[in-house]
Amino acid sequence: MDEDPLRFELRLRDGTPVVVRPLCAEDRPTVAEAYRRLSPESRYARFWSPTGEMIGDAMLDRLVRQDPATHVSWAVLDLSRPFTGLGGASWWRDPPGGDEVEMSAIVLDSDHGRGIGTLLLAVLWLTAFQAGAREMVGYVLPDNRKASRWLRDCGGTGTWDGYKLIYRWKLADLDLLPETPAAADLAAWLAELAPRLLHD
Ligand SMILES: CC(C)(COP(=O)(O)OP(=O)(O)OC[C@H]1O[C@@H](n2cnc3c(N)ncnc32)[C@H](O)[C@@H]1OP(=O)(O)O)[C@@H](O)C(=O)NCCC(=O)NCCS
Repeated sequence: MDEDPLRFELRLRDGTPVVVRPLCAEDRPTVAEAYRRLSPESRYARFWSPTGEMIGDAMLDRLVRQDPATHVSWAVLDLSRPFTGLGGASWWRDPPGGDEVEMSAIVLDSDHGRGIGTLLLAVLWLTAFQAGAREMVGYVLPDNRKASRWLRDCGGTGTWDGYKLIYRWKLADLDLLPETPAAADLAAWLAELAPRLLHD
């Protein structure tokens, strides 16, 4: 058992050992470097505006600040690599105490398709449920086919509001997960992590 209850040593589908834990203030340089390493397309897909390689201080503050009721952000790290960051994901809850959280996730381009996003989605799911939320939504730009397919494969119910795609999960209802490899991975992570992330 890991000593820190919020630090998990897990293995990706391909066997790679990873550490999964909440972001903290000391992660600011790592988050800034991960941002720099992203392709412009991935940055745009996540942040919805054309930006350079430098993340702003205000966004860094927003990402690393944790408040269990309104915002959590987690990272997946490969400690065997010179640059350890693989991906990160957050949820935001407005109003605090509301039923719904909004999720977002990003994985380094070179590490897409390794199951990192799905692992992060499971962490977001359980931490949101533990915080009392009952629904999770993810917003996706219409040309972001990769994220749309992934969120649909993970059981998100998609709707279109004329500007963006909205994927929604009912967090108490695992029976709604589809029969896809991604949803099977998601269900497996949920089962493995629930005992560690859900408590009275
Ligand atoms: C969207 C994003 C976060 C997904 O992260 P990821 O780590 O590549 O996600 P995963 O590896 O868990 O899943 C991606 C693919 O692997 C597939 N997959 C997952 N588990 C699998 C398994 N066990 N066997 C085979 N395929 C599997 C998924 O179905 C998915 O394939 P698809 O895109 O054809 O549906 C990543 O592409 C990204 O960072 N994009 C840019 C940012 C972005 O768009 N963010 C918006 C999301 S809110």
